[in-house]
Amino acid sequence: MNKLDNYRLKLGANEYIPIMIGGMGVNISTPEMVLEGARLGGIAHLSDALICAISDRYYKTDFVQQRSRKYKSFNKQDDKSFAQFDLESVKESTRLLVANTMDKKQGSGGVFINLMEKLTMNNPRETLQARLHGSLDGGVDGISLGAGLHLGSLELMQDHPRFRDVKIGIIVSSVRALKLFLKRTVRVKRTPDYVVVEGPLAGGHLGFGIDDWQTYDLKTIMLEVIQFLKQQDLDIPVIPAGGVFTGSDAVQLMNEGASAVQVATRFTVAKESGLPDKAKQAYFAANEEDIEVNLVSPTGYPMRMLRNSPCIGTGIKPNCESLGYVLDRNGDCSYIHAYNEAKAQNPDKVTVSGKTCLCTQMRAYNTWTCGQTTYRLKDTTNKLIDGTYQQPSTEDIFNDYRYSTDNNILLPTLPKAC
Ligand SMILES: Cc1cc2nc3c(=O)[nH]c(=O)nc-3n(C[C@H](O)[C@H](O)[C@H](O)COP(=O)(O)O)c2cc1C
Repeated sequence: MNKLDNYRLKLGANEYIPIMIGGMGVNISTPEMVLEGARLGGIAHLSDALICAISDRYYKTDFVQQRSRKYKSFNKQDDKSFAQFDLESVKESTRLLVANTMDKKQGSGGVFINLMEKLTMNNPRETLQARLHGSLDGGVDGISLGAGLHLGSLELMQDHPRFRDVKIGIIVSSVRALKLFLKRTVRVKRTPDYVVVEGPLAGGHLGFGIDDWQTYDLKTIMLEVIQFLKQQDLDIPVIPAGGVFTGSDAVQLMNEGASAVQVATRFTVAKESGLPDKAKQAYFAANEEDIEVNLVSPTGYPMRMLRNSPCIGTGIKPNCESLGYVLDRNGDCSYIHAYNEAKAQNPDKVTVSGKTCLCTQMRAYNTWTCGQTTYRLKDTTNKLIDGTYQQPSTEDIFNDYRYSTDNNILLPTLPKAC
């Protein structure tokens, strides 16, 4: 019986089990999960979402407080262009997360980081450069350039001594986006080491329209990308992502020319996931009709989440002086406008229906972003006597992808008391 373990992903001289755990912000793909993925021989991603807040949580820095203190007195202004990030803090927080994870790494797998272009942080170019350099300084094995169009990202790190040896991947949702990216790689004389093709069923933000995501499918886009790379004489591994729920789903894609798969949703409910238990149980309990693609993210990109996410329909005050990760290059965020409008209508009870304060809500784990297959998570574990679902370990899920056949899912071993 064919299983994913019969394949290997080769990136340069390194060979991996062809399972990539995708970056899940904010710190849902924790260092603990990433270390497990690497120990088991696969690749797993840290995420750069709210990087300064994550550093404060783990490494006793106080980057968020410093920023908040500096800008507190300006918080009545709607134009937030004053609230610039300290670039050294951004770089250092990224370095700390990566270096501390790399220090603990065991096994032959890879510790990668997912860096998002759409985290514009009031200064898109330089804050991205700080995150790229912080990752490289921290010794990361690989960088996946995700969430946005990374046209200038390679140029931002070309002077770093590790630029030619770190593994670099690009995440795209179309051949068109890949073509644009490859065009720019000519300037730095370096092609990506892998391409992740993210389809319409993925979690997080989507690279498709709110009205037309249903008309696309992962396999078709992946085959187009493979064919295009062949035409260009480029031998670059292609890694599909989005809706790959079982090892057998993965094997089907491998048979069509994939070199590995990137997966995330199955790992949201792992013991090592950063989601609080309440959110994990909500993911398990979800039915198909509870999952929606909406436009509440102020980035303007559609995002998939559970309909009962606590962030939807609340009206908290914008908090850009402390966080401000989605402020555009002009110090603007669409949530600020939505909040002001809602406040003008009803100052006593502010309810913002169309947008959410993404930074604050994601930091509090109130934005329950998820993949389209979330409603199947309940079939991957045991229901316990108290009515809750058992959290499998990262190892349980990884090995299920690796060894399962015939679309079977191996349930985790029940805890002793059961
Ligand atoms: C909870 C969650 C958070 C995510 N966060 C990010 C992120 O911060 N950046 C990113 O590029 N992709 C993010 N993704 C997308 C995943 O990395 C991955 O490519 C995709 O979800 C794989 O599809 P699957 O979830 O159906 O397995 C996220 C996905 C989930 C489920």
